[in-house]
Amino acid sequence: MIRLHNKVVLITGGSRGIGAATVRMFADAGARVAFTYSTQRDAAHKVAEEVSRKGRQALMLKVNIARRAEVQKAVREIKKHFGRIDVLVNNAGIWKRAPIDTMTEQQLAETLNINLKSAFYFCGAVVPLMKKQKYGRIINITSTAGQRGEPFYSHYAATKAGIIGLTKSLAAELGQYNINVNAVAPGLVDTDMTAAALGRRSTRNEIERIIPRGKVATPEDIAGAIVFLASHLADHIVGATINVNGGSVLV
Ligand code: NAI
Repeated sequence: MIRLHNKVVLITGGSRGIGAATVRMFADAGARVAFTYSTQRDAAHKVAEEVSRKGRQALMLKVNIARRAEVQKAVREIKKHFGRIDVLVNNAGIWKRAPIDTMTEQQLAETLNINLKSAFYFCGAVVPLMKKQKYGRIINITSTAGQRGEPFYSHYAATKAGIIGLTKSLAAELGQYNINVNAVAPGLVDTDMTAAALGRRSTRNEIERIIPRGKVATPEDIAGAIVFLASHLADHIVGATINVNGGSVLV
């Protein structure tokens, strides 16, 4: 049903977690995939090899997404390699505990740069191509934290609320060019990011008890919503935030 055979997709943070699952799912749908990674070259290489084994093309790029010049260079490389970029998924992010009274300037800047500014940089770099193509789909990964806040992670929650603001603004700004901008908001997902928090069985049970669906998401649960938003099935969805959290944001 979902076929993306002639599409080129760019995913940030594709070496593991939600990003890696998204790379694999886009490849399964027939897309050519470029993805960024930061330090985990071996993990990125494994993901790229999996895509090749599916008979699809993958391009992996080491990018410090907090630096605008590096982002612009990466987008130029992808354009040179694939000739176009149809879909951008702003996925890469960090989640580091920092109570407000001890949060350092460095901690604040790191989270703002990686989670929020990077999405501005990628959107700024790909939108000129998408405008020329008169086609584009941008999917930004936010969080339940961006909707209801998160104690001890206020900087993280602020970046994710910022992602929702960016999504709605660009949706209105770019709709006229057939560029749809939407967001996906996961709740807790089983990835390296949450491995420490979910590691203890008792903590996990406690968390799962309060999620209406009774379980933490898999990375594939999130990737499914992302691929759907990139597909023609979602052509009339503009500026939305799709909650993929088993109902956890409701309680
Ligand atoms: P993860 O920690 O497993 O993977 C994060 C990815 O971001 C990695 O591929 C990493 O290379 C990349 N990344 C991190 N810092 C980077 C940097 N400085 N430069 C370039 N790339 C960098 O995380 P996960 O769980 O897959 O999260 C993906 C997205 O989903 C993030 O935006 C996160 O905030 C969001 N999210 C995750 C939830 C969860 O429970 N895991 C819940 C809600 C949102």
